[in-house]
Amino acid sequence: MKALVLSGGSGTRLRPFSYSMPKQLMPIANRPVLEHVLENIRALGVSEVAVVVGDGGPQIRAALGDGARLGLRITYIRQEQPLGLAHCVKLARDYLGDDDFVMYLGDNMLPQGVTDIAEDFRTLRPCAQVVVHKVADPRAFGVAEVAADGRVTRLVEKPEQPRSDLALTGVYFFTPAIHEAIDSITPSARGELEITDAIQWLVSSGATVAAREYTGYWKDTGRVEDVLDCNRELLDGVSRSVGGHVDAESLLIGPVVVEPGAGIVRSRIVGPAIVGAGSLVIDSQVGPYTSIGRDCRIKDSGLDRSIVLDGASVSRVPALRGSLIGRSAAVTSADAGGAHHRLVVGDHTRVEVAA
Ligand code: TTP
Repeated sequence: MKALVLSGGSGTRLRPFSYSMPKQLMPIANRPVLEHVLENIRALGVSEVAVVVGDGGPQIRAALGDGARLGLRITYIRQEQPLGLAHCVKLARDYLGDDDFVMYLGDNMLPQGVTDIAEDFRTLRPCAQVVVHKVADPRAFGVAEVAADGRVTRLVEKPEQPRSDLALTGVYFFTPAIHEAIDSITPSARGELEITDAIQWLVSSGATVAAREYTGYWKDTGRVEDVLDCNRELLDGVSRSVGGHVDAESLLIGPVVVEPGAGIVRSRIVGPAIVGAGSLVIDSQVGPYTSIGRDCRIKDSGLDRSIVLDGASVSRVPALRGSLIGRSAAVTSADAGGAHHRLVVGDHTRVEVAA
């Protein structure tokens, strides 16, 4: 089995970050989403992976290289425009040949993994197999209607009146039968070749399409809230490890990771939390549920339930919560005595200040 990882797209919901970085590189517990994805794929015993990339391709290549570090052989396929998930499969037609493959959306996090589900696919080998997850409100998702024997009877994209609470996650297993299905469909109203249309084509033509339920934590990290939520979920799994320097006046409470080369000075870090390599935390309180990337500087500040990306600084800001701070961004309080907020804010940025 091969793997096809979709890491193009426009990432409009993750602006302003997606202006300067592909959303699949957003760090969760200090590792890009895409690395978590590839680790799950490796766990299936798959090592041949094609990664579909758009404009963020060079950054993704720089982060993953040829995949050897992750035990994979990665091939990159360029998608000039985000013309849909099924369009990505079309671009990968030669790479995939007549092999079965797992298609994995590069922004989807399923930390409990899909090894059992992949095993079912390999054993029973339906024409296609989707991975579904029970959600409270299915109206925002592709929804699978599934018979008692696990066969998909119908797929509906964002139904107003859902007849099932099983949402399609971003993991699909395909036999080469999907290629004929994709060749038989036309672009949807939004101009994309939809993978749900291709799978529905298989269902309608009488092919066996199976659904398997993933019951662990699932998140499509498409929006800031999702990224922060997912970060909290993954931080819950970290254990204490201190590779950097913590001075005698600092206190680490609970599961705290201080990466090699990081420094903690007169500060209190409440786990779960990670302070990345080369970062300095001085006279501050950090955590819980906070990840600080590499080479950041946190001084005279307090922040919790947040992510700080590489090279950013936070200075003299006492109470940041639920924040996502971009690479090399600077957050600081106005000069002492100033009663005004001073903001230099980029396009599509969201700022919430205390009233
Ligand atoms: P989406 O999150 O549905 O699409 P998007 O990246 O355009 O996001 P937004 O709605 O915020 O604008 O895509 C799911 C995954 O598939 C994501 O990792 C991007 C990838 N993708 C491609 O690689 N090519 C495509 O043509 C599309 C539509 C998505």
